[in-house]
Amino acid sequence: MTDARQSMLSRLWAYRPTTALARDFYTSAADYQVELEHIWYRDWLFVGHDCEVAHTGDYLTLQVGEYPILVVRDRDGEVRAFHNSCRHRGSRICSAEHGTTPRLVCPYHQWSYRLNGELIAARDMGEDFQRERYGLRPVHCARVGGYIWICLGAVAPDFDAFARQVEPYLRPHHLQDARVAFESTIVEQANWKLVWENNRECYHCAVNHPELARTFPATPTVSGPAAQSARMQAEGARWESLGLPSRYQLSANGQARIMRMPLLGAAVSYTMDGKPAVRRALSDAVTDSNVGALLMFNFPSTWNHVLGDHAISFRVLPLGATATQLTTKWLVHKDAVEGVDYDLRNLTEVWLATNDEDRRVCQENQLGVNSPIYEPAPYSPVHEAGVMQFVDWYRNHLIGRLTS
Ligand code: FES
Ligand code: FE
Repeated sequence: MTDARQSMLSRLWAYRPTTALARDFYTSAADYQVELEHIWYRDWLFVGHDCEVAHTGDYLTLQVGEYPILVVRDRDGEVRAFHNSCRHRGSRICSAEHGTTPRLVCPYHQWSYRLNGELIAARDMGEDFQRERYGLRPVHCARVGGYIWICLGAVAPDFDAFARQVEPYLRPHHLQDARVAFESTIVEQANWKLVWENNRECYHCAVNHPELARTFPATPTVSGPAAQSARMQAEGARWESLGLPSRYQLSANGQARIMRMPLLGAAVSYTMDGKPAVRRALSDAVTDSNVGALLMFNFPSTWNHVLGDHAISFRVLPLGATATQLTTKWLVHKDAVEGVDYDLRNLTEVWLATNDEDRRVCQENQLGVNSPIYEPAPYSPVHEAGVMQFVDWYRNHLIGRLTS
């Protein structure tokens, strides 16, 4: 085992997840490299939505650590993922974030690949050249409920348990048939775990999120890991009777959670007045005026909110020990028309502001943690139980990976 891995393992063994992590976990390039190799390059990661690659030849690209990745809809309607690196001399094949193409043609010397990855044309390579040996390198790809996932590992961890857990919750919302109305990508100069820790608590919400605090319940008994308020139970029972699975469910290893939660008071959407942002329901099958927010997370790459009128997905990708990319997408019914069924500003205002506020608090968190005098202190058992659940997962998951 390398020194970096051994060092991380001993620190993880000594760590008790009732306090924040020690400084190196948030600052060290060596630790970050171990996390890339043992978490980001081995776990299932959320990359985008089925509806973004709805037709043959539609593709999206992303960068996971050192790996450029390409996700494309092939001629059989299957969604496939490949390393976005030409088998000739390695050029990236697609550079746009989204596009449509009948075949994948490398811009450098025009080697051409079918949408299933087979190399079909390579000019003047000589008689002995064996085209079939140079198909694009595949990446594991799986889908559930309108969400596409990839795994860079040689052997992918089980995906089916997660799919079985969340599919019944997502099914009524028909996200496969939605449309991305808006997408935003920001960079937070903060370690990816600080971004997650911030996401897993609302201890900071009242003061930092004036827009979100109008509709999002900061109370841990509503939005926290042991959500059990009386209203929660009453609403949950009503939703279940409408065929909308709602109860809190955490996966056995703590990596994924799904639950449905009521918004504050009479609010039904994340807008400044709590009213729907989109006149047309997101799904034709979910027409009740108040279905709360379906919350789903899967460490380390995504958290999500599915409402009655729209859905919001968040994709987390690490850019370095102290930089994280966050991509947010707003999904609406595919036939909802901007300017008629919704106003884009009204739809995006709350979460654009919230993301920016979270970016600032995470960056300040990083700058303070960078100080040699920073010392981990206890989390609030009342407000930060969700954070403890995250760091507990992180500790156990990474120990598991480093010792297997
Ligand atoms: Fe792709 Fe040469 S690097 S064709
Ligand atoms: Fe926040």
